[in-house]
Amino acid sequence: MIRLIVAVDNKNGIANENGIPWNLSSEKKYYRDKIKSAEILMGAGVYKELKQPANAHKNFVLTHKFVDKPGFYKVSNTKIFFEEHKDVWVIGGQSVYDLSIELADEIYITRIDQDFKCTKFFPEIDSKFQLVSRSPKFIENNIDFYYEVYKKIDR
Ligand SMILES: NC(=O)c1ccc[n+]([C@@H]2O[C@H](COP(=O)([O-])OP(=O)(O)OC[C@H]3O[C@@H](n4cnc5c(N)ncnc54)[C@H](OP(=O)(O)O)[C@@H]3O)[C@@H](O)[C@H]2O)c1
Repeated sequence: MIRLIVAVDNKNGIANENGIPWNLSSEKKYYRDKIKSAEILMGAGVYKELKQPANAHKNFVLTHKFVDKPGFYKVSNTKIFFEEHKDVWVIGGQSVYDLSIELADEIYITRIDQDFKCTKFFPEIDSKFQLVSRSPKFIENNIDFYYEVYKKIDR
């Protein structure tokens, strides 16, 4: 199962040039609970922002360059990676979502009801995916947000 997990603002934005512009502790906990004990794949942009590996079974980094921080493992070819790893959470950023959304079985998306003037975006969720759950709205730091899960429809 390939799952994408992301938080987006109301323009589908995921980050600006300084990273993720919101700070929602309950949303971070939701994210951490999902990825713990899983294999996760991130791009080099996310890797650069992390001082240490996320609390997950294994942290893989998609890059053409060296990966030198302990606890991270380099991936240079996504085709081979997804053939060998069948149960993966893709944690971003934009370029890794772009190349993996077509392979995804499920998308876990937090929708944040504000415009944070992002410069990086999540790709469009097309009609191959069906919304299967939506949480009630939550409010933290005066920000409304809710959780959705999409599953790929078998045709
Ligand atoms: N809101 C959210 O839920 C969320 C989630 C995750 C991330 N983010 C944010 O998104 C931002 C990062 O996004 P991003 O698009 O700039 O970076 P990214 O997707 O994390 O990483 C991009 C890098 O990955 C490597 N890469 C991409 N495609 C590759 C391929 N086919 N083969 C080998 N390497 C490949 C390249 O690195 P090399 O140049 O090293 O080869 C590329 O520069 C961060 O600010 C992060 O905070 C937000």
